[in-house]
Amino acid sequence: MDSKIFITRIIPDPGLVLIREHFLPDIWTSDLPPSRGELIAHSHGVDGLLCLLTEKIDGELMDSIGSQLKVISSMSVGVDHIDVAAATARGIPVGNTPGVLTDATADQALALMLSAARRIPEAERFLRAGKWVTWQPSLLLGADFTGSTLGIVGFGRIGQAVARRAQGFDLRVIYHDPSAQPVYGAQPVDMDTLLGESDFVSIHVPLTEKTRHLVNSEFLAKMKSNAVLVNTARGGVLDQTGLYQALKCNRIFAAALDVTDPEPLPMDSPLLELENCIIVPHLGSASKKTRDLMSLLAAQNLISGLKGERLPHCVNPEVYR
Ligand code: DGY
Repeated sequence: MDSKIFITRIIPDPGLVLIREHFLPDIWTSDLPPSRGELIAHSHGVDGLLCLLTEKIDGELMDSIGSQLKVISSMSVGVDHIDVAAATARGIPVGNTPGVLTDATADQALALMLSAARRIPEAERFLRAGKWVTWQPSLLLGADFTGSTLGIVGFGRIGQAVARRAQGFDLRVIYHDPSAQPVYGAQPVDMDTLLGESDFVSIHVPLTEKTRHLVNSEFLAKMKSNAVLVNTARGGVLDQTGLYQALKCNRIFAAALDVTDPEPLPMDSPLLELENCIIVPHLGSASKKTRDLMSLLAAQNLISGLKGERLPHCVNPEVYR
């Protein structure tokens, strides 16, 4: 097939090898994303675009690519970087990579909960600074995890995988998600009950206009003062100014963020001054197996779209009606 393809980064081998069996793609080889101008130039005239969550794919870009564009495939489950409505309006299917990163992301949420509760990064900084002089009864005391109450905001695949893991820690799990059925012993509650009763609050909603800054000063004010907030969803779900204020005055015990807004987080962000805030660079899906599977799914979506077949994982199936 002589379709034209642009891939916006070197993706793991399983996907790349599969694509190269069928096509000769143009691949952006820098570690940094293409600039807007570079994205426009390289994607002009392509039949298929494979992108990451670092690229903004809007209607203007789709039009500049041209009406021959058959598929947009993102190597991510989240598609908030793509104007899906604009793609649908142009009849372009958009593919994503659900399922394969559920476990890795749920593992990361648990790792962050435990790290924040037991102050692991702070303790390691303490040790490396040469401050460990003896065992002390009150040194770096953290929060109890086992037996506590976990509130899950957004009870889709990843939220449910977190609930499943919580059973092993004897957590009481409550969740807020009007569209989800209870599983793994989790109990549905309204948002105020969740915030008022949870020792750990874990965010698992996609970023949409409705969820932008869902976690704001008002939300944080309703949380318990011993509570830990964990965000492995999207940075835009959280108002970082409100979070800084809540952490600075110990309104809540700690926060652990896998995602920020913007990404990367500027090094002058006040959040970086705080001992009770853990921040890691968007690593929820960062295991070798998971990234291999994500690249494979992204490649399968791309190839199906180019062949005019239904994408295995399509976020806008209405294009097929
Ligand atoms: C995704 O795929 O949306 C994740 O955020 C990547 O880790």
